[in-house]
Amino acid sequence: MRGAMPDEKPAPQSKSTDRDRRAFFVKLGLGSLSIAAAGTAVFAYQFLSPNVLFEPSPIINAGQPEHYPLDSVTLDVNSGIYLIHSNEGFFSLGAVCTHLGCLTAWNPELGIIACPCHGSKFSRTGAKIEGPAPRPLPWYRVWLSEEGNLMVDRSTTIGAMQFLRV
Ligand code: FES
Repeated sequence: MRGAMPDEKPAPQSKSTDRDRRAFFVKLGLGSLSIAAAGTAVFAYQFLSPNVLFEPSPIINAGQPEHYPLDSVTLDVNSGIYLIHSNEGFFSLGAVCTHLGCLTAWNPELGIIACPCHGSKFSRTGAKIEGPAPRPLPWYRVWLSEEGNLMVDRSTTIGAMQFLRV
């Protein structure tokens, strides 16, 4: 019967196993550093890049005046404006209600601009008739381009009753 041999030493590890383990940890460390460096670079780029919001131009080309018959009210849903051809000339109103920002609609039977949300009503020239809206609809600057197109600048409000005669 064989018993345990107390003076038996574990077999010494070979030098190549030590080198493999060391190389593995070096690669692991370098990989971790690379990932950390890449993350830092991404955050630095985001921090240093300008925080700019690109918005569409406030200037709208509404086309030729002939497209708008006399006494017409045209709503451009995409830009949120009315283009109105009245006896006095052309003018443009903001179509967004001054109460809480709903898009208004022209009601040809009643001859008013009405907000579907809380019942504000405006005249064809944007004056408030009734409802919770605190202000009239804004008038926007309108002019003719060199090509003869009607142009509207939504970023420039003007006083009411300033018509463009074409
Ligand atoms: S949003 Fe138009 S009346 Fe309230």
